[in-house]
Amino acid sequence: MIKVLFVCLGNICRSPMAHMVFQNMINEKGLASDFEIDSAGTEGYNEMCHAGIHRGTKEILRRKGVPFEEHYSRKIRKKDYEYFDYIVAMDAENIEDIECIVGQDKDNKIKRLLDYTNNPRNIKDPWYTGNFDETYDDVVEGCEAFFKYLNI
Ligand code: 4NP
Repeated sequence: MIKVLFVCLGNICRSPMAHMVFQNMINEKGLASDFEIDSAGTEGYNEMCHAGIHRGTKEILRRKGVPFEEHYSRKIRKKDYEYFDYIVAMDAENIEDIECIVGQDKDNKIKRLLDYTNNPRNIKDPWYTGNFDETYDDVVEGCEAFFKYLNI
């Protein structure tokens, strides 16, 4: 079982998008029973509000034909670090924030999603840019590269 946790700031835009895109990719490859996939945020405010996936993320997932279930935001916990094999962040700030919560990345599990591509970079936050299309393209590029990296 390969356990993957996607992480962003709010856990309502980018990490649920990556969670659903990667889950769909895995399901389509018939590998669902080999993976446990989840997402979380580095901030707790949405957890307090029990926020669901942002409507911009839902809208693009629907438009691209990616099935998804509702996901309620939660804050990453220290024990997530031990539990998950891969902690996949959206940007460099996420990594700093994750390490504040879980401690130093002693097992080298934490990377940005686009670090798995030939063009390592942050995924911009559509909460601020409003550009869910750009985020979706980056998420797909990253998920494909991450799957390739896993070499299954
Ligand atoms: P995300 O975007 O980290 O991609 O989920 C954000 C969502 C909510 C907020 C910030 C970023 N917020 O400030 O509530």
